[in-house]
Amino acid sequence: MLSQTMQAALNEQINNEYYSAYLYLSMSAYFEALNLPGSAKWMRAQYDEERTHALKLFDYVNDRDGRVSLKQIAAPQMEWNSPLSAWENVLEHERGVTASIHNLYALAVKENDYATQTLLTWFITEQVEEEKNANLMVERMRQAGTQPATMLLFDGHFTKRGE
Ligand SMILES: [Fe+2]
Ligand SMILES: [Fe+2]
Repeated sequence: MLSQTMQAALNEQINNEYYSAYLYLSMSAYFEALNLPGSAKWMRAQYDEERTHALKLFDYVNDRDGRVSLKQIAAPQMEWNSPLSAWENVLEHERGVTASIHNLYALAVKENDYATQTLLTWFITEQVEEEKNANLMVERMRQAGTQPATMLLFDGHFTKRGE
């Protein structure tokens, strides 16, 4: 059975993942408004992915005879200064998520909770991928700079995600 502390921390992370989903859905709307459908599609896929992260934790808490407690999801930002600044926000956000996953892992180690450590190993690997992708996108946006043609070219490539 999960300790109360571990359970509370996992429930907090479920909320964190739903907030991530919400943030990326908001970015998807932002890119739709900019007529960048590839970027919008990418963010929408990211929204789906974050929900699967939340559900992975949801299932785990239930499997360990814990009690899921869903909390209010904060309203995400709606506007960004540029596509570059939105992607920089993704990178910054994912770094924060990585830190919270690492804190959860440290707690699981402290509590000798081996099952939770194993679950979190998956999330640690996933965060490496998330930060790598976000970094790449920030680089692409920097390359595009203020050249609309390059931005459209990149946006066209982004539509390929998930195909
Ligand atoms: Fe996530
Ligand atoms: Fe993520």
